[in-house]
Amino acid sequence: MAMGRRLAGMVQEARRSFGAAGGGGEVENRSQPPDLPTEHDLSIALTAIRKRYVVGPVSTDILHGVNLEVPRGDLLAIMGASGCGKSTLMNIMGLMDRPSGGSCVIGGREVSAMTDDERSEHRNRSIGFVFQSSFLLPRLSAWENVALPLAYRGHATAAARLKAEEMLARVGMEARTEHLPNQLSGGQQQRVAIARALIGRPSIILADEPTGALDAQTAEEIMGLFISLNADDGVTAVVITHDAQVARQCGRVVRLVDGVILESPELSSPAAPRDAD
Ligand SMILES: Nc1ncnc2c1ncn2[C@@H]1O[C@H](COP(=O)(O)OP(=O)(O)OP(=O)(O)O)[C@@H](O)[C@H]1O
Ligand SMILES: [Mg+2]
Repeated sequence: MAMGRRLAGMVQEARRSFGAAGGGGEVENRSQPPDLPTEHDLSIALTAIRKRYVVGPVSTDILHGVNLEVPRGDLLAIMGASGCGKSTLMNIMGLMDRPSGGSCVIGGREVSAMTDDERSEHRNRSIGFVFQSSFLLPRLSAWENVALPLAYRGHATAAARLKAEEMLARVGMEARTEHLPNQLSGGQQQRVAIARALIGRPSIILADEPTGALDAQTAEEIMGLFISLNADDGVTAVVITHDAQVARQCGRVVRLVDGVILESPELSSPAAPRDAD
């Protein structure tokens, strides 16, 4: 009983801190069966995606007509200069934001035709989102942060905790499960955020610079985790990175340049040119 209350408290805490657009692909619990299998048939198709930001009198066009197909089971790296719109694009793919125009089809469904509830549901069920900033809830411990997506699905606390601890062990954080975010280093916070993105066994992983705050060895281990989820479990993975080493490990590399996507097969080679940012 007390355990159940604790989990409900976590969900409330998340709502307070994040509002509707929060981290970890959460969704309101509408009493679904807790262990619904996640399908692995989700591909992403973006066509002529545009995004315009308006701040006061200034409007800026960031995405000018992005066409990008991410077939099911792809492991894709997106590169591009700082400020070119990579996170903007990923937020659209991850149903965190809406485009100003164009079509985004995920798993055969046009996303813009979905209600907000359907988008939240889709996000929680299918997508593991690793934000550029880790967005952990400051008053929740590492394991509680990781368990959040399961809390939203209505899992019992004890089971959610066990899974959270297992996932933390997979990112090398088994000794820090009770730590609060401000008791963790930046790289450790990022690993907790990665564990949170993976705990719901998403069909699609969208990771915005997941290794940016990590040392070379930890970065390699985290990429190894994505690669094995992709190769062994068929998870579709999209990774934004500035790091050519990371991009080289992905099957396919594209660049976002002047608001459009360019294929960059040459970036897969060690001699590839790098961003100057
Ligand atoms: N909510 C917003 N409102 C207005 N402008 C925004 C907003 N979010 C992003 N921008 C602008 O859109 C542009 C693209 O931002 P975005 O975060 O997508 O870049 P990025 O490619 O991810 O950069 P980085 O590599 O530095 O993370 C930037 O010029 C930024 O100022
Ligand atoms: Mg970014």
